Amino acid sequence: MKFFIDTANLNQIKDAQELGVLDGVTTNPSLMAKEGITGRKNILKHYIDICKAVDGDVSAEVISVDFDGIIKEGEELAALHPQIVVKVPMIKEGVRALKYFSDKNIRTNCTLIFSAGQALLAAKAGATYVSPFIGRLDDISTDGLGLIVEIREIYDNYAFETEILAASIRHTMHVIQCAKVGADVMTGPLSSIVGLLKHPLTDIGLKKFLEDYKKGN
Ligand code: E4P
Repeated sequence: MKFFIDTANLNQIKDAQELGVLDGVTTNPSLMAKEGITGRKNILKHYIDICKAVDGDVSAEVISVDFDGIIKEGEELAALHPQIVVKVPMIKEGVRALKYFSDKNIRTNCTLIFSAGQALLAAKAGATYVSPFIGRLDDISTDGLGLIVEIREIYDNYAFETEILAASIRHTMHVIQCAKVGADVMTGPLSSIVGLLKHPLTDIGLKKFLEDYKKGN
């Protein structure tokens, strides 16, 4: 399972990269705004800074919603750096753009996926990744993990190469559950990655080992 961090915060990206388990970064316009990155020029520069901070794919989202705009923006983003994956929304024009990018060998991440039908359509159009938002489904009393299970079954039935990128991950249990049902990738906050290493018995055990070592030396 690949681990992506879902942030535009360079310090958090560097922390996760240093841990040695990071495979990529996902961003979205809200995450860029949260870091105070505004204006096209600054946003493009920030994508390059993110690419330099991580060894792996960096999803950069288009903000156009018409076909020509998505294509223009996506080609500009893809040309920025070889690590860039163009993030395209699951709308009609977005599906057309996925097919266009796929034919041009430009890698894509189809975002805002909330149903198995949308995931099927994105795979048919040649998306590199699909991003089902499991946390946002859970937020409205709908089974986010169940959607990952459905998409896994559909993709396996037809050997689609599109990777399931479980997004809107909120906590460590989401990560573990997604790993159990075969998501190819998860993207979440730094806390959902470093939280995996925590266990009180590890802390208690280590404390005792160090105390016993001191007694004998
Ligand atoms: C996916 O790529 C999105 O950036 C993200 O996972 C959305 O998560 P949220 O629901 O926590 O905003």
